[in-house]
Amino acid sequence: MNKKEYLYIKTYGCQMNVYDSERMVEVFEQNGYIPTDSPENADMIVLNTCHIREKAAEKIYSELGRYKNLKKKKSNLKIGVAGCLAQAEGEEIIRRQPLVDLVVGPQTYHQLPAILKTVGNGQKSVAIDFPVENKFDYFKATRKRHHGVAAFLTVQEGCDKFCSFCVVPYTRGAEISRPVSDILAEAGEMVRHGVREITLLGQNVNAYHGVGLDGKICSLAKLIWELAKVNGLERIRYTTSHPNDMTDDLIEAHGECGKLMPYLHLPVQSGSNKILKQMNRQHTADMYMRLIQDIRKARPDILISGDFIVGFPEETEADFEDTLRLVKEVEYGQSYSFKYSARAGTPAAERDLLDEDIKNERLHRLQSLLSCQQKASQNAMVGNTVNVLFERFGRQEGQMVGKSDYLQAVHVADCDLTVGTIAPVSIVAAKTNSLTGSLNV
Ligand code: SAH
Ligand code: SF4
Ligand code: F3S
Repeated sequence: MNKKEYLYIKTYGCQMNVYDSERMVEVFEQNGYIPTDSPENADMIVLNTCHIREKAAEKIYSELGRYKNLKKKKSNLKIGVAGCLAQAEGEEIIRRQPLVDLVVGPQTYHQLPAILKTVGNGQKSVAIDFPVENKFDYFKATRKRHHGVAAFLTVQEGCDKFCSFCVVPYTRGAEISRPVSDILAEAGEMVRHGVREITLLGQNVNAYHGVGLDGKICSLAKLIWELAKVNGLERIRYTTSHPNDMTDDLIEAHGECGKLMPYLHLPVQSGSNKILKQMNRQHTADMYMRLIQDIRKARPDILISGDFIVGFPEETEADFEDTLRLVKEVEYGQSYSFKYSARAGTPAAERDLLDEDIKNERLHRLQSLLSCQQKASQNAMVGNTVNVLFERFGRQEGQMVGKSDYLQAVHVADCDLTVGTIAPVSIVAAKTNSLTGSLNV
């Protein structure tokens, strides 16, 4: 075999990209590459990109610019762009940045070995079709890599919702769900390698409708109940959900399935019915509020997290205040909020945009409120005992870091447990993004 070749992958965007990057590393490993943390050492650089907002895409082009000197020094260095920017812009990426050798969309990663053979010596490749074969058929449970104790597992991909602002239905394609048997096999493999918590991933994960063990279509709730039977798997989470797919059986599972953790990321985007309609969200603010009530009835201590967009075209001050009102009613424990970013090819991009100043001001007001709520939710933990899954050692001697059932980071000093242990911790102090606790002895 030739000299060893090194692969550097940098991942942007959502957890699905994190999962896909792990998958790509495996494909490259099977083709003789060794992963490296440094682009300088690499023979192959892959940026796994995001296209969700304009800034996300701009970041990629500036990162690519930084590789110019590397490529000059190492003529056989190959540079690839994967992910949603690759899918959205295709050949345009090579036109704009000629040092790129290959562009590969999220549904063609399984073709990487074949694609790799065609690039180099000035030959470039762009693979952004949505092939009829399903990439997951080629990515079966062969995961030998170190996953840590908490891992992601993609169960559903793509989106059929077409919110008017969003690129995902175009970059990830139509919804597909993996069969339950594949998911159970992969989860089993992960657990054998030390995983104790699995987060089921999908752009629209609660729209999951894979083929069940009995050959019938299976809901996300049923899948969760199947996974709950896996010995050694202690915690199950899922993300990201759409309000319209929060079915009764899923809400019930939050009340009844002990392994399903009390945390739910349920984006609402806006509290104004007019804006929700323009966003093509297909739900109203009231419908969302009713859902939250039902979910809290099933699991009163659940921590709710959300996504928001401010400054959508035609959002008035009154519309924005509807969003603030909804936030006050829900009381979020965690949140992600963004200024609207017009994305070419999406229906909303054709309309007028609000002034950047207005967007900034609204984002600031929304984020102040959300951050107060997050602080309050963190402070409310002080004095409580929570179960923590210890994921790693901390920076200080003897310290360990883990996650509570509610997905909060928890730091514990003088902790001599093994990574992967779940233990009760008394919370003694709270910061916005982490809690400090001591082991209950
Ligand atoms: N599938 C998820 C979200 C996927 S994208 C859902 O249905 O909610 C993650 C978040 O990015 C979205 O929830 C939204 O808040 C934000 N987002 C998506 N497109 C955006 C855009 N054009 N401008 C600003 N934020 C956007
Ligand atoms: Fe985008 Fe809407 Fe689909 Fe979420 S549900 S991925 S926001 S189109
Ligand atoms: Fe970004 Fe694509 Fe995920 S656009 S948020 S990487 S699905």
